[in-house]
This record gives sequence, C-alpha cells and structure tokens, in this order.
Amino acid sequence: MKRRTAILISGRGSNMEALIAAARDPDYPAEIVLVLSNRPDASGLDIARAAGIEAEAIDHRDFGRDRAAHEAAIDVVLRAADIEIVCLAGYMRLLTPVLVNAWQGRMLNIHPSLLPSFPGLRTHARALEAGVKLHGCTVHLVTEEMDAGPILGQAAVPILPGDSEDDLAQRVLRQEHALYPAALAAFAGVAWGLPDEGACLTNPLPWQGPAR
Ligand code: GRF
Repeated sequence: MKRRTAILISGRGSNMEALIAAARDPDYPAEIVLVLSNRPDASGLDIARAAGIEAEAIDHRDFGRDRAAHEAAIDVVLRAADIEIVCLAGYMRLLTPVLVNAWQGRMLNIHPSLLPSFPGLRTHARALEAGVKLHGCTVHLVTEEMDAGPILGQAAVPILPGDSEDDLAQRVLRQEHALYPAALAAFAGVAWGLPDEGACLTNPLPWQGPAR
C-alpha cells in the first residue's frame, strides 16, 4: 500500500515536482496526495494542481506572530487528509514543536548542503567561501534542532574552479531531484535506485508504521 504523503513548500517547488514525477510510477511506495504552502503566491501550488494534486495555501500572515496556531492549522489539514509522511521541500519557515512533535519520525526535509556542514541559509555561498571541494545535499528527518535530524541520504557534487554560487546551486539541485525521491522511497520501505554516480543514499531508515 502506498504511503499517503504531503509536501510542504514555500516557492517554486522543483523538489516537489521531482517527488510528484517519481510517485507517478505504479511501483513507487508513496503517493503524493496533498501540497500545502505557507505562501499563496508559491508557484509550486499551480504546478501541483496542474498535476492533479490537491494544493492549498495556509497563509502564515493570517496568524500574525502566532506560529503555533499556523502550524496547528496545517496539522488539522494533514490529519484530515490521512497523511502518513510529510516532506518539506523548500518550506522556508522555522518549525515549532507543534509540527515537529506531531510528525516526529515521519517528517523529512531536504537541505542543500552535506550536513552537518552548513546548516541554515546561503549554503552554496558559504561552501565557496570555506573553500571545500565537495558539496551536496542531504535528506534528513526533522527534529527540533534545525537541519540536525538523522540523515536518510546524501548526494555529493564537486566544487569546480571558477564556480559561481549559481553554478553550484544548479549542480546541487540536479542531485536534490534524484536524491529526494530515492530517500522518500527508501524511507517508505522500498529501495528505489540511487541518484547519479558519485552520490549515495546513506543509512536509509525503514518505514515503521503510523505512530498514532
Ligand atoms: C532547495 O534547494 C532545497 O534544498 C531547499 O530549498 C530549495 C527549494 O527549491 N530547502 P525548490 O522549491 O524545491 O525548487
């Protein structure tokens, strides 16, 4: 049985698109049934709708400074849709314990660096500034500490002489689009092939069934 999966976005949703595309395969172990955005103008919402997926904005501005109330509203919609797994894909809000605790062990995030290096923002610029030769992306479980949960998979790319921030971001993003579907599939219980050569899916955790 396919795991009912929701994706939370804030913007263009290219990782969301990669997950939707992978999940079209009849053998893929997760089904993308819902996309939520905290921004009504997120272009990913239209992409999801065009793919026939229910997509809704829950605007954080409607909740003022009450982040917990915003997340409680998201949680209500997730539960109403019988969601089993939540994938954050460019969801640009710091989470509070409301969502983190409710979805602990069942919420994934993709981050554009090889964690634990470069948590937070401006990861590509910081990797260039640091002079590292390898960079990449990580899919991890979400815990209360930002960008610090158990790692489900990583994909590495080289940093080449003369790379701009944008060059590097594009190179990493191509790997993100391969890694996230592979990591979600491994998490949902089935090996799904690996991203490009040079990338690896490390330490995939098995699906452990609904926690509530
Ligand atoms: C990606 O680089 C992702 O790793 C980060 O935010 C970006 C979102 O891009 N968390 P997209 O919306 O998936 O195109």
